[in-house]
Amino acid sequence: MNALLKPAVTYRPMKKSDLDAVMAIEPEIYPYPWTRGNFSDSLKAGYSCWVCEHEGKLVGYAVLMMVLDEAHLLNISIARACHGHGWGRCLLEHVIGVARGYNGQMMFLEVRPSNKSALALYESMGFNEFSVRKGYYPAANGREDAVLMGLAL
Ligand SMILES: CC(C)(COP(=O)(O)OP(=O)(O)OC[C@H]1O[C@@H](n2cnc3c(N)ncnc32)[C@H](O)[C@@H]1OP(=O)(O)O)[C@@H](O)C(=O)NCCC(=O)NCCS
Repeated sequence: MNALLKPAVTYRPMKKSDLDAVMAIEPEIYPYPWTRGNFSDSLKAGYSCWVCEHEGKLVGYAVLMMVLDEAHLLNISIARACHGHGWGRCLLEHVIGVARGYNGQMMFLEVRPSNKSALALYESMGFNEFSVRKGYYPAANGREDAVLMGLAL
């Protein structure tokens, strides 16, 4: 996408006071959402937590855990009403830049095989499948595997 056509979203570190807005989005986009405690623990742990805003409204967020030179993307989310505007891709590009800033060499993430839009996004950004974690996620009919994907930074 031409830089001039980049969607008008801005990024800033997540604060505790963002959690009401985050928790308004999280349950509407995940069948098994993170709890408020998961986000506040991530902030307390010092993970790299980001929000993206459009016209002053919080429209997405991401949580990145750095372990030495490995980045683990624990959460990346865009509000349902805002899907399909290119903001998820921009947020992913942003956190990849953050991980590079920490001298990260690899970024890893887990994704449900049924999450076709996220899989398509990650593949189009150059992530490759590394392995499958059997029964990693809860699911309506038992458990669902996770695809572990990685990107060389
Ligand atoms: C995954 C998610 C972050 C993508 O955000 P988004 O802003 O809707 O995505 P974008 O508009 O930036 O699209 C980026 C790419 O994602 C893929 N994509 C997005 N929506 C898609 C859909 N409905 N079907 C198939 N692919 C899709 C495409 O590859 C798209 O690239 P393209 O527009 O060049 O074709 C968003 O759908 C989301 O928050 N989903 C719920 C939470 C979630 O599943 N997070 C990931 C957990 S692993």
